[in-house]
Amino acid sequence: MPPFRLVFLGFGNVGQALLQLCMDKRDELRQSFGIEWSTVGIVTARHGSAIDPRGIDPDRALAMAAAGESLAPLSRRQAPPDPLAFIHDCEADMLLENTPVNYADGQPAAAHLRAGLERGMHAITANKGPVVHAYRELTVRAAALGRRFLFEATVMGGTPIFSLWRTALLGARLLSFRGILNSTTNLILSRMEAGASFDDAVAQAQALGIAETDPRGDTQGWDAAIKVAALVTVLMDQPLKPSAVPRQGIENLQPEDIAAAARQGARWKLVCHAEQTPDGVSASVAPQMVDPADPLFSVMGTSAAVTFTTDVLGPLTIRESESPSISGPRSTAYGLLADMISAVRGT
Ligand SMILES: NC(=O)c1ccc[n+]([C@@H]2O[C@H](COP(=O)([O-])OP(=O)(O)OC[C@H]3O[C@@H](n4cnc5c(N)ncnc54)[C@H](OP(=O)(O)O)[C@@H]3O)[C@@H](O)[C@H]2O)c1
Repeated sequence: MPPFRLVFLGFGNVGQALLQLCMDKRDELRQSFGIEWSTVGIVTARHGSAIDPRGIDPDRALAMAAAGESLAPLSRRQAPPDPLAFIHDCEADMLLENTPVNYADGQPAAAHLRAGLERGMHAITANKGPVVHAYRELTVRAAALGRRFLFEATVMGGTPIFSLWRTALLGARLLSFRGILNSTTNLILSRMEAGASFDDAVAQAQALGIAETDPRGDTQGWDAAIKVAALVTVLMDQPLKPSAVPRQGIENLQPEDIAAAARQGARWKLVCHAEQTPDGVSASVAPQMVDPADPLFSVMGTSAAVTFTTDVLGPLTIRESESPSISGPRSTAYGLLADMISAVRGT
């Protein structure tokens, strides 16, 4: 079988971690799934783009990206700088879209994913924007074209959530969920519990590469809200925009609040919640004081967890604990890799 031709749209933390993971698992992919792969395109915003139907050297691409160099010298021919033109110009089997999230409308990622599908590629992303703003459209379009639109990595990174519902929880109806879906704020709250101020805790999260330079997407609850919207949109089949999720971040929590909770044996968590009601879906993101009986109490640092309530099972909790040996981008990359295998196998 000829190799699957991969195009990386966005080659930052996640795109690079995915290429590295594909290299690390090259033998497993071949032996267990019959998958050979080759990178035929890489697109970035400010670090050039490269196109080579015969395959870009992945080691060189990773080394150049790590050095902050332009990828243009890797290109066999002039690569169109505009991502849409690039997609139209590139023969490939999978579009791996990992550009920054746009909370407002999911663009331009949604348009890029649609263009990839229309060019015959599976469309796979870690970007939450297209999920909340174009889930139905992209899923229907993919099905009509015999391709897949998959996005496991968007919520809790590589932890199986969407594939769990797609392949295992068949016929179950999701009534509600509650969880910690933003690991940056969880880390900040954990550090504040250990005595750090809010600003110091944010700086520590930034130093670890977990919080962005502008951390407000996390600390104001936007990232948590878009994840709630993604779960509701896909798993409850009710389109919900992040702006429609009542949202409160952690910026108003003071060290005194953290200390007062600790005196009661409790702690603060940024809790995501949604439930089906007779009037539709009620959803929220807000700090809550949780006690030791709560399954979220022991979710510390960059760990994350979600409990699903269904019509057929008792509460089902999925939890990913932080690991010093596995970085956030690598576990996110695993979600994308699992989607690549699902797309090939049709699962
Ligand atoms: N980091 C994580 O652990 C994690 C976890 C789950 C989900 N995600 C999601 O994964 C996506 C990527 O995150 P990241 O951490 O890899 O971001 P990042 O490090 O900032 O990388 C973003 C990449 O996208 C490129 N880019 C930006 N705008 C573009 C455009 N319009 N067209 C083409 N390329 C464009 C950037 O180019 P330049 O290099 O030239 O700037 C860069 O290569 C985001 O949607 C994020 O929310 C990330």
